Amino acid sequence: MTAATVTLTPYDKIGGADAVRRLAAAFYDVMEAPDYAALRAMHEPDLGSMRVALAGFLTAWLGGPRDWITSQGGFCIMSRHAGMGITETTRAQWMAAMRSALAQAEIAPQWAEKMVQALEPISRGMLRRGVGALPA
Ligand code: HEM
Repeated sequence: MTAATVTLTPYDKIGGADAVRRLAAAFYDVMEAPDYAALRAMHEPDLGSMRVALAGFLTAWLGGPRDWITSQGGFCIMSRHAGMGITETTRAQWMAAMRSALAQAEIAPQWAEKMVQALEPISRGMLRRGVGALPA
């Protein structure tokens, strides 16, 4: 009998549901610090539903269960951010908060780095369109 081949997803490799929950919680905790004031000001005072949404989105994005996306009736991350007027300042704060959260949630550094590298162009694609607003 041959051994079955099991393909682990990035979701499995970073530590599954617990790790993603830790990461989303850390992200919004980090965002409360003064360095992220502009980013924090874009959000509602209560971040409870955002913790659930970010964990749900990241779970599916990393190749884990797609339940949250299904519960939304589908979800496009780029359309969702299209009207937000994201500037280089708030984009950079988002990426810095994510870097810090990855460390705080103790995601293995090699996976944290891969995630940062994948999130970087996504965040750049969310920059407000208009004269002078496009990424260099
Ligand atoms: C580029 C910088 C970004 C900024 C400034 C930003 C800002 C925001 C804000 C203000 C909201 C809440 C909107 C509301 O209250 O209605 C939000 C929602 C969300 N963001 Fe971002 N975001 C950024 C990048 C990202 C990235 C790169 C991801 C994931 C890859 C992401 C994932 C989400 C998710 C999952 C939601 C919840 C959507 C929902 O519940 O409908 N964001 N974002």
